[in-house]
Amino acid sequence: MARDRTIALTDDCIMHTYKRVPIVITRGKGVYLWDSSGKRYIDFLGARGAANTGYSSPEVVRAITAQAKRLVHVTNDFYTRPQAELARLLVRHSCAEKVFFCNSGAEANETAIKLSRLSSYRKYGPGRYVVITAANSFHGRTYGALSATAQKKYQTGFEPMVPGFRYVQFNDTDGMGAALGDDVCAVMLEPVQGEGGVYPGSVEYMKSVREQTQRKDVLLIMDEVQVGLGRTGRLFAYENYGIRPDIVTLAKSIAGGVPMGAVLAGGHAADVLDLGTHGTTFGGAPIAAAAGVAAVGSIIKHRLSENAKKLGSIALKRLLKLKETHGTIIKDVRGMGLIIGIEFYDDRRAAAVYAQCLKDGLITNITNGNTIRFLPPLVITRDELGRGMDIFEDALSHRHFE
Ligand SMILES: Cc1ncc(COP(=O)(O)O)c(C=O)c1O
Repeated sequence: MARDRTIALTDDCIMHTYKRVPIVITRGKGVYLWDSSGKRYIDFLGARGAANTGYSSPEVVRAITAQAKRLVHVTNDFYTRPQAELARLLVRHSCAEKVFFCNSGAEANETAIKLSRLSSYRKYGPGRYVVITAANSFHGRTYGALSATAQKKYQTGFEPMVPGFRYVQFNDTDGMGAALGDDVCAVMLEPVQGEGGVYPGSVEYMKSVREQTQRKDVLLIMDEVQVGLGRTGRLFAYENYGIRPDIVTLAKSIAGGVPMGAVLAGGHAADVLDLGTHGTTFGGAPIAAAAGVAAVGSIIKHRLSENAKKLGSIALKRLLKLKETHGTIIKDVRGMGLIIGIEFYDDRRAAAVYAQCLKDGLITNITNGNTIRFLPPLVITRDELGRGMDIFEDALSHRHFE
């Protein structure tokens, strides 16, 4: 189908929930995407964090192909080997003891919220159901996850939100202490706020939250949907803080691009969801689970978290230099491993730099209005990173407003 026809059909027949650029993507390999005209792009957006193992990773493609020939889907009324293998892999490499599989990040967070409330209900009875989340967070678009997402712009028009969520300032230890009343069952935080503009949690904050929640027997949920599985320089982002959360939620890159989510739980939290308390038709389905074994296995085997740490620090250094030379344009540069945000003083400048990059073959995106975000596949090489950064640097110097 020709490019124009694809765009016209999409605009005619699909709800307009996404701001799409008029580019039809036809192929991907590693850190590269190609459009219908054959133009190649370096993708620093990495499918919004769903492409840690790169596009069409050979390991993931092999696993999907082999599994599709054997069994595409079967109900969770039966046992399947890929699901068992993926669960073992995740448990072995995390602080968790048990896993629940679902289909997306929002669903993983819904599950974590349900688990927390049920846990508290069984231990303490009704009334202890509040989940604390942080201002500027993003946890997904379903009702529980949306209610947890402390940003008005996502909630407006969909009220009333689910009751029982309390919002605090991120990285504010005292604020957390004040919010942790006797009605709280869980605290849910992103280790690095991604959609909110790339704001890493500080070590002191995360340690203090862990200590405070433990003291109050409140579950700590780390939403690692965007930054888990190698991106921050460790397999799990919580490892950067020297803490053990009770629950970790994952999605995006867990199955190499096949839709999947997972909830990892340890200690008491591992045994809360029991027969009939939760479920989903496609959770841990054979294709996704087989892809997951290949994707998570390859993140571990190829030490992609170490690559993220090394190349993330190279990129951050170069960007901090650019902040000095472009001090009137760039307000701040921050990140952890290979999630990096470049905040501009002016939203229009961020938009112009983004557009120029795209024209020159580099895909990025803008988050929080004024922050260009890099989330490249973790298989990126130093050379590929350098070439993408060259395009970004050139775009900064472009005379956009003249
Ligand atoms: C931190 C975080 N949590 C949850 C979600 C929701 O995930 P999904 O879009 O798979 O529902 C996202 C998506 O961007 C996210 O970044």
